[in-house]
Amino acid sequence: MTLPQHVGIALPPKVSNDGWHHQRRTLESEQFKETSMNEQSSQFVGNIPDNYDQGLGPHIFHDYAEDLAKRAAAANAIDVLELAAGTGIVSRRLRDALPAAARLVVTDLNPPMLAVAKGKFSEGEAVEFAPADAMALPFEDAAFDLIVCQFGVMFFPDKRAAFAQAKRVLRSGGSYLFNVWGDMASNPFSEIAQNVGVDYFPDDPPGFYRVPFGYSDTDAVVADMEAAGFQEITRETVAFDKQVADWSLFARGLVYGNPLFDEIQSRGGVDPDEVMRSIRAALQDRFGQQPASMPLLATVYNGRAP
Ligand SMILES: C[S@@+](CC[C@H](N)C(=O)[O-])C[C@H]1O[C@@H](n2cnc3c(N)ncnc32)[C@H](O)[C@@H]1O
Repeated sequence: MTLPQHVGIALPPKVSNDGWHHQRRTLESEQFKETSMNEQSSQFVGNIPDNYDQGLGPHIFHDYAEDLAKRAAAANAIDVLELAAGTGIVSRRLRDALPAAARLVVTDLNPPMLAVAKGKFSEGEAVEFAPADAMALPFEDAAFDLIVCQFGVMFFPDKRAAFAQAKRVLRSGGSYLFNVWGDMASNPFSEIAQNVGVDYFPDDPPGFYRVPFGYSDTDAVVADMEAAGFQEITRETVAFDKQVADWSLFARGLVYGNPLFDEIQSRGGVDPDEVMRSIRAALQDRFGQQPASMPLLATVYNGRAP
């Protein structure tokens, strides 16, 4: 069960039996809406991890994971921390690409995502898993010489505080390597998913897709990194023309593989399968019969700790 957002009395966050964080607040302010949306958008739990891994992984995450792992391997790092690792799509490629002597610590806010990640490794492989909130990293200062994070920073509620945490656990000269989606127009699948959500819930549109595609101003990202003390910052646009073999599988991931599913459930009255079918139809209208291709665009950042 999910409590309605933006109603009720002020209470601290709590975790329900099914692992979802529920909050009740009195404020209706835009600031609260943003905070609440970000909190709900960060909850990748329940059946979401499997749908994420299978429905979204091959379509929007694998290519960027290859790219990030290659860049990480070139850093010649020994102590490597991955943040917001999710279902281990990058972790698996990182372990394969890093030198055998490198230590790899794989973290995420949501243990159910990490459980899927663990399944990608065999017993005895050199990888450590730990739940960790990027806003409050449970590691000592200067413990790592490389941090890697794929499509995670957009979910961190206070970007500058999260960058400051990353800098704290990096050694002097260590690097923070991460990527961030471009805007919805540059990743039109997200615009389609968002617009279908608005069609079904015009009075209370789901906000999930605004979070991962809402940190696309590259000057703002660099300013946030600089404010936290990062230096020698580089940014590079990475685009793919992604072949999609199965619109149904992708549409399933877009609804059931992220917290949009919870937003649909909490609003009620609409079967998520119906939303999925509408997204599938809209994807096919826009990009053509499968197999077809769609554009993806993101920016890869690298910053050095002083
Ligand atoms: C879009 S997924 C990316 C997962 C993975 N890096 C990948 O490439 O597939 C975003 C991830 O951010 C995690 N996340 C959200 N808020 C977080 C936080 N404050 N600290 C750490 N991880 C967080 C979620 O649990 C989710 O696994």
